[in-house]
This record gives sequence, C-alpha cells and structure tokens, in this order.
Amino acid sequence: MKFFLDTADVDAIRELNDLGMVDGVTTNPSLILKSGRDITEVTKEICDMVAGPVSAEVVAEKADDMIREGKVLAEIAPNITIKVPLTWDGLKACKVLSDDGHMVNVTLCFSAAQAILAAKAGATFISPFIGRLDDIHLDGMDLIADIREIYDNYGYDTQILAASIRSVNHIIEAGKIGADVITAPPSVIKSMASHPLTDKGLAQFNADWAKTGQKIGK
Ligand code: E4P
Repeated sequence: MKFFLDTADVDAIRELNDLGMVDGVTTNPSLILKSGRDITEVTKEICDMVAGPVSAEVVAEKADDMIREGKVLAEIAPNITIKVPLTWDGLKACKVLSDDGHMVNVTLCFSAAQAILAAKAGATFISPFIGRLDDIHLDGMDLIADIREIYDNYGYDTQILAASIRSVNHIIEAGKIGADVITAPPSVIKSMASHPLTDKGLAQFNADWAKTGQKIGK
C-alpha cells in the first residue's frame, strides 16, 4: 500500500519522508492556499525532497488551457503528476497529456462511471474522494470497492488513489479493498501510531519500572 501525503506543508512532508513513509504527495489549489507559498516554488521544494510522484493541479476549465498549464507544471520536475479534474475537458486533457508521456492524476472522482472514463483516457491515477461522499451521507468506501472490481474485471492499470481521507479507518478499509494508494493529511498518518492500550500499557510499564529503582545504562 503506497502512502501519499495530501499537503503542501514541506515541514510535515520532511518529517514523514525522513522515516521512509512517503511514496508521493498530492496538492490542490486549496492546499497551496493553505501553505501560503508560491505554487512553483513550493512544488519544486516538494519534488526535490520526495522521490515519488507529486501531483500539481491545473486550474483552467478548457482542455487546451489545461494542457498548456499541465505542461508548465511538468517543467517543475520529472516526478510531477499533472492533476486534472474529472470533467469532459479534463478527460480530453488527460488523454493528450498521458499520450505525451506525462503522469496524470484525474481528481474529484465521485462515481464508478467517472472512474471508467478516466482509465480509458489513460489516467495514471484516479482519485475517488471518500470523505466528501461520506459528508453527504453516501458511502465513499463503496465507491473504492466498485472501482476496484471494475478495474480488475478489465485489467485497467490506472491506479486507485483513495483521496479525501479523514480517518485511520478510511485507510484500513481502503487497504482491505485494495486501493493502490491512499493520500492523507500527515496528521491522519501520524494518528495511525496511536492506540489507547499502547498508552495504558506504557504507563503501567513506566510505573512498575520506577518501583524497581533501576536504570538502563549510566
Ligand atoms: C486529493 O488529491 C485531494 O487533494 C484531497 O484528498 C481532498 O481532500 P479533502 O476532501 O479533505 O479536501
């Protein structure tokens, strides 16, 4: 299971990257806004740090403009993945950019039908948004399962990049279904290490150790 970080916060990326836990990064216009940085500058810094794919998103709405913006973003570094929205124009841009040899991440996917079109347009990644479906009382995980089944039925090699992840359970469930990649905020990845029984057990060990009066080393 590959881990992408869903952030443009370079300090947060560095911390997890140094632990070998980062297989890639996804950004979007909202995350660039949150970083307060220039898109080219911050994306270059991320690409220099992380060896895997780094998604940078176009903002145009017409295919030709998306293609032009995608090519500008791809100039930033060889590991750029051009992110395009799942619109008809986005699919056209996906086809041209992937035929041109670029990695393309088709984002804002909310249905299996959309995911089929992205695979046929040559997407490297499809990004179904789990959390935003849950927000409107639909089951985001059902979408991951449907896409997995359909892609496997026909041998599509587009990778399922489970996005809009809000909890550790989202990661576990996406992993059980067989999503190829999850992208999550660093805080969610870090919270995977937490368990109340670990905390309780550690407190007990520390209390008992203090009673021994011993020290390890000097
Ligand atoms: C994916 O590439 C998106 O950047 C992201 O997962 C969106 O998540 P959100 O719904 O928490 O904004």
